[in-house]
Amino acid sequence: MNAYGEADRVRLDRLPQWKALTEHRARLNGVGLRELFADDPKRAERYSLQVGDLHLDYAKHLVTDETLTLLTELAEAAGVAELRDAMFRGERINNTENRAVLHTALRAPRDAVIEVDGENVVPAVHAVLDRMTDFARRVRSGAWLGHTGRPIRTVVNIGIGGSDLGPAMAYEALRHRTARDLDFRFVSNVDGADLHEAVRDLDPAETLFIVASKTFTTIETITNAKAAREWLLAGLGAGPESVAAHFVAVSTNAEEVARFGIDTANMFEFWDWVGGRYSYDSAIGLSLMTAIGPEDFREMLDGFHLVDEHFRTAEPERNAPLLLGLLGFWYGQFHDAQAHAVLPYSHYLSKFTAYLQQLDMESNGKRVDRAGRPVDWQTGPVVWGTPGTNGQHAYYQLLHQGTKLIPADLLGFAEPVAELGPLRDQHDLLMANLLAQGQALAFGRTAEEVRADGVPEEQVPHRTFPGDRPTTTILAASLTPSVLGQLIALYEHKVFVQGALWGINSFDQWGVELGKVLAKRIEPALTEGAEVPGLDGSTSALVRRYRELRGR
Ligand code: F6P
Repeated sequence: MNAYGEADRVRLDRLPQWKALTEHRARLNGVGLRELFADDPKRAERYSLQVGDLHLDYAKHLVTDETLTLLTELAEAAGVAELRDAMFRGERINNTENRAVLHTALRAPRDAVIEVDGENVVPAVHAVLDRMTDFARRVRSGAWLGHTGRPIRTVVNIGIGGSDLGPAMAYEALRHRTARDLDFRFVSNVDGADLHEAVRDLDPAETLFIVASKTFTTIETITNAKAAREWLLAGLGAGPESVAAHFVAVSTNAEEVARFGIDTANMFEFWDWVGGRYSYDSAIGLSLMTAIGPEDFREMLDGFHLVDEHFRTAEPERNAPLLLGLLGFWYGQFHDAQAHAVLPYSHYLSKFTAYLQQLDMESNGKRVDRAGRPVDWQTGPVVWGTPGTNGQHAYYQLLHQGTKLIPADLLGFAEPVAELGPLRDQHDLLMANLLAQGQALAFGRTAEEVRADGVPEEQVPHRTFPGDRPTTTILAASLTPSVLGQLIALYEHKVFVQGALWGINSFDQWGVELGKVLAKRIEPALTEGAEVPGLDGSTSALVRRYRELRGR
């Protein structure tokens, strides 16, 4: 067994700390947030943390000092800190793929030393960052010319999963810092509509494609990249010699990049110790760097690094990712919560939760431990959410009065971005909504309070809010590149903590493979009517129906 297969570790639910938590949970039953706040006037002060620019308020959680102590002790007994240190040291903690997990090296300062198999990887990280910087400057300044000698006006990133969600999310988040004379688009879906809509109004002579794929074998990305190349050649009326000025690649796989027809001189490298969903601060962020500029990109990396250092060194009681991870564990295991909502009160963070879905659900959607044994406890939650206040007029009803407990993160910023001009005046209303939601979810409205408002008796149950719906509030002064980096690192490490606690490998994603294999088998049945051996009755009937509908 690999050192991090950890078959010899005592199972989580057999640890004495687990038993202590179970008993504690039973004792706490019925204790609500109104009582917890009434008992401790300093609760808000004590249950908050400052990490870099992030202010975290976790007072509105169904926990006491004892809960937090017991959870921290469980994490210690489960070896979370040991695994964290092994990750930072570059050990191969991704045991099913025998890989190191070193996204933290992507934001390490130039003089740091982080070794994988005895080799310091930091110089290579910075060499790629320097090449990216050069590329971004050339595109932004108009020095990078297309085949016909015209400067680039639109950059189209083609990638999927981690090779799309990160740059697309961060581009949106920092849109107010982007070069407004350039246009950026992100194509991921193998549905031709995605590429069609992205390029239909573009001039190929002024368009540059970044093909972003760690493996460079992902069918969606390669299919879209080939179609984009066809579009370019047809539009330019030129031969393959025109590709070099309009296509660059980001990948770990130089061989496949060359096979595709992109000059490896136009390839930006990263490494197998960077997981796809942990990669947007690698060369996968090339489109983002081009949009926001190298200085902002490096500021973002510094933000990541700040939280990396916090996670690595802060004492457990004040360690934000540890705390958030443990709170999530507490609700999943001891309150039967199946989901976790992330609700940014910032339009710029409109893709933030979609990004976190991959980060969290691809990492911790696992049912066996590192040694391959089924786990007997809850693992990763369903992560979802959209920006407030839109969600308030859609699904918050369920959060307030439904039968499910869904812990939520409320994110907001004190300063609206300068560019909004007079629209900045709307910001206080936005933030009042964030604060109101946290308050309503936590403390609800009792039947007595509803009655006291003169509500007719038959309506009282409908207008009562049970409260005790936990939230974490994360506030920062403004949404800068550094703050974005800090936020993402916070969630990355939260996900790490939970995976380590549950004893699962957060860094593989075998669960996406079966669908890929089956799609490959089914495609010829759709196109040519080929027999698919062993196809079930339902799927073969659907294949037949599909072919009929397509007139085949
Ligand atoms: O969906 C599986 C996955 O492997 C993700 O983990 C990854 O981010 C995505 O596909 C894209 O992979 P690639 O960057 O190799 O194209």
